[in-house]
Amino acid sequence: MDPHAGTGRRFPPGFLWGAATAAHQVEGGNHWNDWWQYEQSGRLPFESGDACNHLVLYESDFDMARGMGHNCHRFSIEWSRIEPVEGEFRHEALEHYARVVAALHDRGLEPVVTLQHFTLPTWFAAGGGWERKDAADRFARYVRHVVERLGPSVTYWLTINEPTVYVLQAYINGAWPPMRCGAWVKAARVLRHLAKAHVAAFDAIKAQRPDAMVSFAHHALWMEPCNPQRRLDRLATRIRDYVYNGLFYWLIGASPAKAGSLDYVGLNYYTRCCVRFAGRGPTALLGRACRLAHHAHSGPRSDVDWEIYPRGLAGVLQKFRSLHLPLFVTENGLATEDDALRCRFIEDHVEVLAHAIDNGIDVLGYLHWSLMDNHEWDRGSAPHFGLAAVDRVSQERTPRRSASVLAQICRANSH
Ligand code: FCB
Repeated sequence: MDPHAGTGRRFPPGFLWGAATAAHQVEGGNHWNDWWQYEQSGRLPFESGDACNHLVLYESDFDMARGMGHNCHRFSIEWSRIEPVEGEFRHEALEHYARVVAALHDRGLEPVVTLQHFTLPTWFAAGGGWERKDAADRFARYVRHVVERLGPSVTYWLTINEPTVYVLQAYINGAWPPMRCGAWVKAARVLRHLAKAHVAAFDAIKAQRPDAMVSFAHHALWMEPCNPQRRLDRLATRIRDYVYNGLFYWLIGASPAKAGSLDYVGLNYYTRCCVRFAGRGPTALLGRACRLAHHAHSGPRSDVDWEIYPRGLAGVLQKFRSLHLPLFVTENGLATEDDALRCRFIEDHVEVLAHAIDNGIDVLGYLHWSLMDNHEWDRGSAPHFGLAAVDRVSQERTPRRSASVLAQICRANSH
């Protein structure tokens, strides 16, 4: 018997299956954004360059996605292409994305459109980026342009990708533009502005298309205390969990009592975080993320050192069901050279998903990160997250066996 064989659970009719990408990671040549600028000036260690040349190759990439049994695809629109100079909107760029959406529909792939996936137009970044007082207004103006053109053909929208990750990496860890370290006050301001921007974008989309489904994509980290017997670890876990997994929802006015500016809950799930009380300093109560594999049930780790922990997906789905909105796994995947591990990862996470649905949790779909190997931000092209390998010189795509494992699940709509 195949040890990876599923349990024959059926998914709801119309369940959305597919993969996700982001503009800067796959398109190539994003000259007008802050990442490109930092890459060119050597402040970031790797250049995105042509990336996967998806800007040109999107049609054959969508053929490939279709061949993988997908019926849905998530991609992001690059704000800096639409508005490379403040207030100047490029018709041709909008038409490009209109063609992208049409190409998806032609292949029976439901588009899920992200409006902002980490990168910022250089003019916006130069004026303070998300720190700017007018950040939400500027973002909403761009969103209105996009929605005016694409609104009629796009139902599913994600306003902003992973606001908490952005704030952490850009304002606390100093790893991503604008590379601020420990800038807690600015971080709080940026998070507030991102929340305002989400709400403004939500309103802009709904004004054009009241039946659109709008969310943001939350990086859902499953939190557990390092030592469950230790009261301070438990306390730090609760606080960290609230700040990481709760605060942004509160800022946009979403709670179990009211949906606020959300039609569904977009969840990117990768791993869990074990939290240890940090001891001293102003951020002590947030605890420290512990990397030790000290739990008896600690799983294997991916090539970017994230623990593989499917049970965390169960926890996350259970946690967010309290918002009483449909959930949507908008990213899930791993970086590995070992495709057998990816096959296993897919099986195990889909199994968790099936179980959650059986238990009455409303889930709209599952998107794997990513369709193909791409430019993984400050880590360059080494981490391989793709269902397909990409030769960055010839731009040839080679689907991996894991793509067929997922394809079988997608086509059968069961596991
Ligand atoms: C997520 C990001 C995505 C990609 C994956 C690996 O946090 O949204 O762009 O980098 O991680």
